[in-house]
Amino acid sequence: MIDYLRQAMEDTPGITLPLPDGAAEVHEGDAYDLLDKLPGNSVDLIITSPPYWGLRTYGLSHNEDVLHEWEAEGGSKEEPPPYDWYRLHGGCLGMEPLPEWYVSNLVEIFQRSASALKQGGSLWVNIGDTYFARWSSIRFDGRQGLGDNPRMRRKTPMGGFRQEKQLLMIPARFAIAMQDKRWILRNDLIWEKRNVPPRPEKDRLRLAHEHFYHFVKRPKEGRPKYYYDMSAVEDGARDVVNVNVSAGSDGHSATFPVKLIEPRILSSSPPNGLVLDPFCGTGRALAVAVKNGRRAVGFEITSNFSSSARMNATNLRFASEASDESTGSEGVQPQTHLF
Ligand SMILES: C[S@@+](CC[C@H](N)C(=O)[O-])C[C@H]1O[C@@H](n2cnc3c(N)ncnc32)[C@H](O)[C@@H]1O
Repeated sequence: MIDYLRQAMEDTPGITLPLPDGAAEVHEGDAYDLLDKLPGNSVDLIITSPPYWGLRTYGLSHNEDVLHEWEAEGGSKEEPPPYDWYRLHGGCLGMEPLPEWYVSNLVEIFQRSASALKQGGSLWVNIGDTYFARWSSIRFDGRQGLGDNPRMRRKTPMGGFRQEKQLLMIPARFAIAMQDKRWILRNDLIWEKRNVPPRPEKDRLRLAHEHFYHFVKRPKEGRPKYYYDMSAVEDGARDVVNVNVSAGSDGHSATFPVKLIEPRILSSSPPNGLVLDPFCGTGRALAVAVKNGRRAVGFEITSNFSSSARMNATNLRFASEASDESTGSEGVQPQTHLF
């Protein structure tokens, strides 16, 4: 975490929420800090895609010695440090030395959203998986294995399930860890991406899906009750949706496709409800929320993406379907800049 941002966070008393005529607010900073500053019971829907594990840095600096520093302080690999310790020692979300640390950090951050999320609210988290490689290639931006974006190599500790070529099942580990923290999992929506580009591997199929988990809060007693408008979901209401990945926007490689998130926003938040994306990147979820008569709040750690999000959040064109983002079908030409 950049020191000046941390100081600014400590000095910020609380987050003002957008009024109906204010539509959207974007705050620059670490979601970990900002979530804690939201008023209680204020958010109807959290919809987001955090950085995935071990793929890219989004240009943030990361301390590759963070594991050794944790061990030097008496910690062990198996026991992840608290997120606050991790970032104070130069750790960046998504660049954890071990996938277990990543899951622990993510869950800790999402736990901080619980008091702001209304009892009848929803949390939708889009997350993709990673194959283990002892020597992995991390991009500053862009899609792993594609293009000529700058990249670095790093050595990841092997052991247990962390073995060469292993699909790490990070989304499942995350979902189970969230269940262990009392979240109720309502759907594991599969986002099928028919236009993923070819991969060089000759001994496995292409990874052509990601998960979009729908969590709700567990009540003190009884069954969970939450807002849901079934008339706003895709035809057939199936838990597999087929949406092409599209070229990123504003230099971001992981912009949400509108078709993936619009049905979630419409079905999981009421008109004029408050929608939050704590890892908002270019602000696509905010823009789609605002276009649909919701209020939106976004958090983003980098100043370049938070500026983009601020501009995009009320931009109707940005909130509308891009031409290359149509529902996937066999034979679609792969894009070159995917996430
Ligand atoms: C997968 S991208 C989200 C893209 C977004 N869905 C969009 O449509 O543009 C994750 C974003 O989280 C940001 N980020 C990384 N660590 C963060 C943190 N601790 N707090 C807030 N934002 C963070 C990254 O800079 C990146 O823009």
